[in-house]
Amino acid sequence: MKEFVFQNPVKLIFGKNSIAKLANELSAYGNRILVVYGGGSIKRNGLYNEVMEILKEEEKEVFELAGVEPNPRVSTARKGAALCKEHNIDFILAVGGGSVIDCTKLIATAAKYDGDAWDFVIKKDSPKNAIPFGTILTLAATGSEMNAGSVITNEETEEKYGWGGPFNFPKFSILDPTYTLTLPKDQTVYGIVDMMSHIFEQYFHSTTNTPLQDELCEGALRAIMEAGEKLVDDLQNYELRETILLGGTWGLNGFLGMGNNGGDWGTHDIEHAVSAVYDIPHAGGLAILFPHWMRHTLKLNPARYARLAVKVFGVDPEGKTDEAIANEGIDRLREYWTAIGAPEKLSDYGIDDSKIDLMAKKAAVNGPLGRYAQLSEGEVKSILEASL
Ligand code: NZQ
Ligand code: ZN
Repeated sequence: MKEFVFQNPVKLIFGKNSIAKLANELSAYGNRILVVYGGGSIKRNGLYNEVMEILKEEEKEVFELAGVEPNPRVSTARKGAALCKEHNIDFILAVGGGSVIDCTKLIATAAKYDGDAWDFVIKKDSPKNAIPFGTILTLAATGSEMNAGSVITNEETEEKYGWGGPFNFPKFSILDPTYTLTLPKDQTVYGIVDMMSHIFEQYFHSTTNTPLQDELCEGALRAIMEAGEKLVDDLQNYELRETILLGGTWGLNGFLGMGNNGGDWGTHDIEHAVSAVYDIPHAGGLAILFPHWMRHTLKLNPARYARLAVKVFGVDPEGKTDEAIANEGIDRLREYWTAIGAPEKLSDYGIDDSKIDLMAKKAAVNGPLGRYAQLSEGEVKSILEASL
């Protein structure tokens, strides 16, 4: 294990009707609240009205930023930061999926900064302060509700990067599975793929002696897969939504990655380059890329991939080499994702080979990518070509 310091200050408020605790949480902050949300799903499912009712009862002065895009844009965060400055906002409430929360994280820090919001994303500068914020999550996927990460797109330069820091932790996150019941099948599937991918990213590392972390990752994957395959045929099932919602949070709240030096994250970097250029759903890209990343990197440690194949995908290891077992496991992952309805090829999104070089260049902009596999630009290109 590597030495580590771990702190996650997010107060998680989970379960049916947990929104009843919102007023109490807000009482610790000032009166001027900016509510940030996306393209309207919270208006259609009634959550918007519920939130506004509570804010009204608490006599809050409410401002709104609507229209945060999936793959949130820096231009929207700039707008939000300007609103905060103009109205002297005390607290920001993000109501939505990972995109709304990620955008809120940038708004919160950029509002306390004289320079441009993008400076934080490209690490030209680091935040020194932020407006406190909380979240009401409506989509199980990113873990953004309980981590300090944020992923932002610059639509002008076609760049998409993750950034983070201590000011990016929500003060609280309210997670009621009820709000995820309105998710359509495709977003439900993307969420399952994203949380599984987060666990894979943390599972592949070169640190030794991580038996507890390994078992936690494998157990979480099994539980998510079991609930996930039932959920896609039973979207209104509250108990399955409950499991998947907690799965998304656990997938990326730091607990699974303790002591392993952070995991790989190369596949996420490649996906961010793909969605920077083509604006496809994040986990749609992951579902296409991850099996190819696994095949490409398998030779680094076949025993690790074989363990995953046996313990998570139920491959029978009898009489087979580690490499054969590992390949069978990757086949089963592909079959599982295809069976629940995730895309298989970049061409499923109409992506051809014309911008492969550009995407590989963008992915490798800071040199080799991935902590465990450390891929060159050429290797990224091969993975992208295999994904066509
Ligand atoms: O915009 P609205 O109208 O709210 O609709 C959204 C959006 O169209 C809809 N939706 C959300 N909750 C719903 C709902 N529709 C019906 N019922 C509900 N309850 O779903 C669509 C997608 O929402 P989005 O927030 O974009 O999805 P997700 O949570 O998957 O977030 C994706 C973003 O997070 C980034 C991705 O790169 C992408 O930009 N990531 C953030 C991470 C982090 N902060 O830690 C890690 C991840 O790896 C990921 O990179
Ligand atoms: Zn992800």
